[in-house]
Amino acid sequence: MDGHSHNSSDLAIRAGMETDLDAIYALECATFEGDRLSRRALRRFLRASHRPLLTARSGGRVIGYILVSLSSRSAAARIYSLAVQNDQGRRGVGRELLIAAERYASAHGRSRLRLEVRYDNAPAIALYEKLGYRCFGRHTDYYDDGAEALRFEKALIPAQK
Ligand SMILES: CC(C)(COP(=O)(O)OP(=O)(O)OC[C@H]1O[C@@H](n2cnc3c(N)ncnc32)[C@H](O)[C@@H]1OP(=O)(O)O)[C@@H](O)C(=O)NCCC(=O)NCCS
Repeated sequence: MDGHSHNSSDLAIRAGMETDLDAIYALECATFEGDRLSRRALRRFLRASHRPLLTARSGGRVIGYILVSLSSRSAAARIYSLAVQNDQGRRGVGRELLIAAERYASAHGRSRLRLEVRYDNAPAIALYEKLGYRCFGRHTDYYDDGAEALRFEKALIPAQK
């Protein structure tokens, strides 16, 4: 399969399963140099009953994933990780994963979605701003290499009861 064979009509977003672990961990390693989720942590999320990890699949393969953290005492959910396979970039996969995460957070009663992003991650910042996220603060010395994180937030439309 070449890098251009994905078309959006065969893109499917669904809860990840434990059988996706190898593919997700490979994607994690290929995408991030530092601040990676361990295989063990990913397995724990894939086993969690509330299914917080959503995958994007195309042609039977996992090409992206997003992980949503639901803290029990917060009105905000948080994007814990988001990655799209490098050769599948700029085709709307990240956008679809983020929209699915927003629905997931609403369905779990959260009214806001928050995330942190490296100050110099222009593609991710462009995606978040395009989908209506606002920068509301920063964390200094946030990443393994000491880089700063920008904090973004979006108010969610309540889920239909
Ligand atoms: C950030 C990331 C998830 C974006 O995924 P993607 O599937 O390529 O994004 P999409 O195709 O849905 O892009 C949606 C919009 O985001 C913006 N965008 C995405 N990639 C961009 C880039 N490289 N440069 C500029 N803008 C970009 C654009 O506005 C784009 O809309 P457009 O293509 O109509 O102009 C992906 O690049 C990735 O996995 N990066 C490495 C991991 C990472 O940084 N994760 C986020 C950590 S906070």
